Amino acid sequence: MVELALPKNSRPTIGKNWPRPDKAANVREFRIYRWNPDDDANPRIDTYYIDMGDCGPMVLDALLWIKNKIDPTLTFRRSCREGICGSCAMNIDGVNTLACTKDMASIKSTIKIFPLPHLPVVKDLVPDLTRFYAQHASIEPYLKTDTHWSAQGAYVAYKALIESLRESVPLQDLPESEIVWKQKPYTGDLGVRFDPERSETIWTAQTTEPYRLAYNNKIYDRGAVHVFLGPRADLPTCVLLRDSFANAMLPFLMRSFSRIVAVSTLSCFYDLLEAERPDVVITMIVERFLASFYYQETIELPRDHENPSFPKDTETDFATLAQCK
Ligand code: FES
Repeated sequence: MVELALPKNSRPTIGKNWPRPDKAANVREFRIYRWNPDDDANPRIDTYYIDMGDCGPMVLDALLWIKNKIDPTLTFRRSCREGICGSCAMNIDGVNTLACTKDMASIKSTIKIFPLPHLPVVKDLVPDLTRFYAQHASIEPYLKTDTHWSAQGAYVAYKALIESLRESVPLQDLPESEIVWKQKPYTGDLGVRFDPERSETIWTAQTTEPYRLAYNNKIYDRGAVHVFLGPRADLPTCVLLRDSFANAMLPFLMRSFSRIVAVSTLSCFYDLLEAERPDVVITMIVERFLASFYYQETIELPRDHENPSFPKDTETDFATLAQCK
C-alpha cells in the first residue's frame, strides 16, 4: 500500500530551545533540522538564537556561528564559501539553495533550515549523495572529446540557474518532458587532436517550441552578437554575456525569456545594458576566469573598468538591435 505520510520514526519532533545570546541587541531565530543516526531517536527541530551584530550576513555564517558558539554537534557540509562547490546545498525557507550565498536579510521571519529533500540523511543537514553521484556518472554531463558541457550537463546547469534567478524574477523553466533528445556522432575540440581523430556519440537536445535567430553580426570570435526571439513575447528579456560554454544552454534559456541578446565577450558592456534595459543579465563567461588563471599572456583580460564600447567592439549599433522584434 502507498504510504503518504512519513514513517513514524522519521517525523520531526520539537527539539531543544537553546538559550538566547546575552546582551545582544539584534537577535534572529533559527529552526534547524537535527538527526543523529546513533541515538535511535526521531529527528527534531532545534531552535537557536543568533546575535546578528556578531555574525556575517549569509545563512552559512549563521550555521558556523551556531557551531562555534552554541552547539558544536550541528553537522553540515561546506567548502568554498562562494557558491561554487555546491557542498552547502540545503533547504532554506522552503527553497533548495546554497547556504553560503543565501542572504539572511532576504528572509523576513524565522529562518527554517532542512536538509535537501528527496535524499536520505546521513546526519543533521548532510544528505547522502551516493545516488546523486551515480546519476551524475550515468548522464555524463561533460563530453569526452570536447572541453564543454554535454546537453545533459547544460540542462542541469540551466535548471539550477533558473531556480536561483527565480528569487528575484518570476521565470518559467523548460520541463524535461518537452525536450526531444537525439543522438549524433561528434568530434569535439579534444577529439581533433588525436591521431587518428576520435569521435563519440552524444545526445543533443531540441525543444518542442521553436525560437528564431533575429540578428547575427557574423563575427566568429569575441564580439559576436546574436539576438534570439522566443515563442512567447510576454516573458522577461535577457542580456547574456557569454562564451562558448553558453551554446548548449541557449535552447533551454529561450523557453524562459522572450528575447536574448547574446554577446561573446570577456567584459561587461554597460552601454548595452543601458540601451537594452533587460530584466535579467547573465554573465556566463567561464573563459574569463580561466583566462585570469592560465592565459594571462595570450588572452585579452576583462577590461570592464575601461568602459568598453559595445558598438565599437561588435560593429553593431543599438538601432539595429532595437529593430529585432
Ligand atoms: S560552500 Fe561551496 S557552494 Fe557553498
